[in-house]
Amino acid sequence: MTKIAKRVFDTLILGAGGAGLRAALQLSQADAQVAVVSKVFPTRSHTVAAQGGVNAALANVSEDNWHWHMYDTIKGSDYLGDQDAIEYMCRAASKLVYELEHYGVPFSRLDNGKIYQRPFGGQSQNFGASQATRTCAAADRTGHAILHTLYQQNIRAKSHFFDEYFAIDLLRDDEGTFLGALVIDIATGEPLVIEAKTTFIATGGCGQLFRTTTNAHINTGDGMAMALRAGVPLQDMEFFQFHPTGIAGKGMLITEGARGEGGYLLNKDGERFMERYAPNVKDLASRDVVSRAIATEVREGRGCGPKGDHVMLQIAHLGADVVKKRLPGIRDLCQTFLHIDPIDTAIPVFPTAHYVMGGIPTDRHGQVVATFHDGPEEVVSGLYAAGECACVSVHGANRLGGNSLLDILVFGRAAGNQIIKHLKEHRYHKPLQEDAIDKAMQRLERWDKKGEGESVATLKAELKQVMENHCSVFRTAVVMQEGVDEIKKIRERLKDARLQDHSRVFNTSRIEALELENLVDISMATMLGALAREESRGAHSRIDFPTRDDKTWMKHSLYHLDGDRLDFKPVRTKPLTVETFPPKERVY
Ligand code: FUM
Repeated sequence: MTKIAKRVFDTLILGAGGAGLRAALQLSQADAQVAVVSKVFPTRSHTVAAQGGVNAALANVSEDNWHWHMYDTIKGSDYLGDQDAIEYMCRAASKLVYELEHYGVPFSRLDNGKIYQRPFGGQSQNFGASQATRTCAAADRTGHAILHTLYQQNIRAKSHFFDEYFAIDLLRDDEGTFLGALVIDIATGEPLVIEAKTTFIATGGCGQLFRTTTNAHINTGDGMAMALRAGVPLQDMEFFQFHPTGIAGKGMLITEGARGEGGYLLNKDGERFMERYAPNVKDLASRDVVSRAIATEVREGRGCGPKGDHVMLQIAHLGADVVKKRLPGIRDLCQTFLHIDPIDTAIPVFPTAHYVMGGIPTDRHGQVVATFHDGPEEVVSGLYAAGECACVSVHGANRLGGNSLLDILVFGRAAGNQIIKHLKEHRYHKPLQEDAIDKAMQRLERWDKKGEGESVATLKAELKQVMENHCSVFRTAVVMQEGVDEIKKIRERLKDARLQDHSRVFNTSRIEALELENLVDISMATMLGALAREESRGAHSRIDFPTRDDKTWMKHSLYHLDGDRLDFKPVRTKPLTVETFPPKERVY
């Protein structure tokens, strides 16, 4: 029997991005004992990289209301989003943004002192009639401002942080109740059991699946993979968003706010090509539409540069003052990584892996819901999730820019409230059996094996290339089937991989190996989901099935690790209080 140090809390939160910190704050303010585990220092969590802003119908710049926001989100989702959850999110938005303002988030200001808002793609007034201005911004560093503020509020509320600890696996009892996780201290390699009455997964996305991504190295889908290994399926993983404007060939995010401020895209002929793809809103169409347009321009020979492999984003005409005031981070990125100043030079851009719409299935209270043993869908006891690792589903087949920061705030808070309720009803800890811990330890010990074997770094690079080549903006069955075969081979080879001798002493190498195991499972979920869905919807664009098929495919996919199995469940088309928005042709 393994003897491992143990700490006991009411709630264990895995991940210290916006969703984790918002839930932690709710709980700590209610006097719950909260442990937040983060593999990086909390303010380095990926929320810090969110640039353009958070959506809320504050109507500070022009008329707006939550019902229009709801319509835009459903249309943006290509009608795959669950309308009850979307209504809940859009109704809550204004309150939560004002709450952030009161916590101290340094939002940019209009001349009248109100929170600054900018237009983003897919936003409209009056159910599609004209452009709305809904994204609340702190220059182009909104995520940074929100994350730091939430962290400071958590310190004040006395949330307990385990900084630079990595979660190995979830722990549960024989009845299937989740009771915490096995984690390790990255610096020392010491394992630690964190026992908790409730466990909340907020580990963010998995952009590291792809070679070119806006995501940080930490985004390896750890929580999603842990859920899979615990028998929880992943929902809608075939829907991966490619942000239209990553720096070409490198991937760093150039915020949609650049187009919101008036920037536009140009092809090699100097043509504003978005006028052909989205005649009404042009560069502010939703992201899937703009990404496909850029990829099409390049494929048809109208790309820029010696290889014709990107288009240009022009913001110079906005003038130095606007760029310095509203887009300082973008200017910084261009100067650092491209050695150009966007005040006078256009920026080379190409669609870049950005955000996974799918994830751990939850209800709008953050409770994980799953089907076990072919029974009906049920709430998974003691397990919660929110943010990019979860699928509630408010983004459906395509997320609107500015709705991810909103998602983490709304559903982080909702999960916090639901957990508070749970804690009132479950006052005592259930016993945690040692064999659950032993099982989780096996995952860690596998990487202590000595001997020759392939390097983790090589396999990871191959996986990312496979995903980029076989599951990108445009997809076909033949190409994806090859992708499935390649992932299967990588999965087999990973079993015989070893940490290299020189690196075995560093825990970071072991962490990278564990992360790669996570990525491999998630890549399979993504590729198999995409292969199965024989239609084009939102970010999932099939050359061999170019149209949306509502008759067959108005349903969510669910990938189970056990047997690489897929099943499906219906979209919830009934909102909470208003009329359903039925599917219609999606034009911008
Ligand atoms: O373009 C951006 O600033 C990204 C925002 C988002 O993904 O919501």
